[in-house]
Amino acid sequence: MPQVHICEVGPRDGLQNAKHLMPTQAKKAWISALAAAGLREIEVGSFVPPKLIPAMADTGEIVQFAKTLPNVKVVALAPNLKGFQRALEAGAHKVTFPVSASRLHSESNVRMTPEQMVEEVRRCAAHPHPGVEIEGAVSTAFGCTLQGLVPEDDVVRIAAALAEFCDCVALADTVGYANPAQVRRLFRKVRNQIGEKLEAAHLHNTRGLGLANALAAYEEGVRHFDSSMGGLGGCPFAPGASGNVITEDLVFMFESMGLDTGVDLQRLFAAREILVEGIPEEPIYGHTPLAGLPKGFRAAA
Ligand code: COA
Ligand code: ZN
Repeated sequence: MPQVHICEVGPRDGLQNAKHLMPTQAKKAWISALAAAGLREIEVGSFVPPKLIPAMADTGEIVQFAKTLPNVKVVALAPNLKGFQRALEAGAHKVTFPVSASRLHSESNVRMTPEQMVEEVRRCAAHPHPGVEIEGAVSTAFGCTLQGLVPEDDVVRIAAALAEFCDCVALADTVGYANPAQVRRLFRKVRNQIGEKLEAAHLHNTRGLGLANALAAYEEGVRHFDSSMGGLGGCPFAPGASGNVITEDLVFMFESMGLDTGVDLQRLFAAREILVEGIPEEPIYGHTPLAGLPKGFRAAA
């Protein structure tokens, strides 16, 4: 059992914001390579109107494909009941719902207020979904490019509401505003309210603080992290949002600290080549893959 759990969100958060489309076959090859590298949880797409985000139009087929890979928890994002029903039909193991703490981002992203979105997730949770996990992700929890400051009390209130009917709750720094002190403070506040239901940190690297924030969350007891290969990512409905914390660097950080992630770095680098082949025009980032592993490096496990 890994000590740190990483959910690769590149196929969803990464490709939804890419300027170029990755063909369905290339997505399948990339997701297979991610699984082969040891990633046991992959957010493979979203069930949103295809007109809104054409890159996610093939998510049903991608979920069905990903389910054929052994030992992979297949995650999909849904913004409403219709998306949830599509996710259930395709057979996703886990569905994540974005609930913005910022009113302006919520209205821009899902055309609902935060309160309406909480009610939408409640409606989904009441819909039969045997064996399927539901995650409520509080987005823009650390600030918002549209609204600016997001009061911590709003984040705590939304997280507490979601914890009533979700299996787990995540805090997301959608636009990369967070700093390590804030990450520690907010995770602690929310954990004080909802305990172990608070699970994942979803961090973006927009201002270069992705790893620092991940480490701060780790020190606060967080053991589940979302990240994206090559640092792809960003919300098309949050101006200025850019890539997630980079999977390759996050794995390197934890493994070199002696914390097992279950991920094999060499195979991860191989998956990165498959990502580049699948979407060659898209710029990708990452320090560890460019510098290589240090001489004498030993993985944790
Ligand atoms: N999947 C497919 N189609 C959907 C859908 C879904 N999840 N939800 C709604 N639709 C369809 C409706 O059936 C309707 O179709 P019609 O025009 O043929 O009748 C149309 O989309 C509009 O439906 P409506 O309920 O009015 O949606 P909306 O236009 O108010 O948009 C959301 C609301 C939530 C569907 C949309 O804002 C959304 O998908 N947001 C998520 C954006 C995102 O992915 N952000 C990044 C990840 S956080
Ligand atoms: Zn994100």
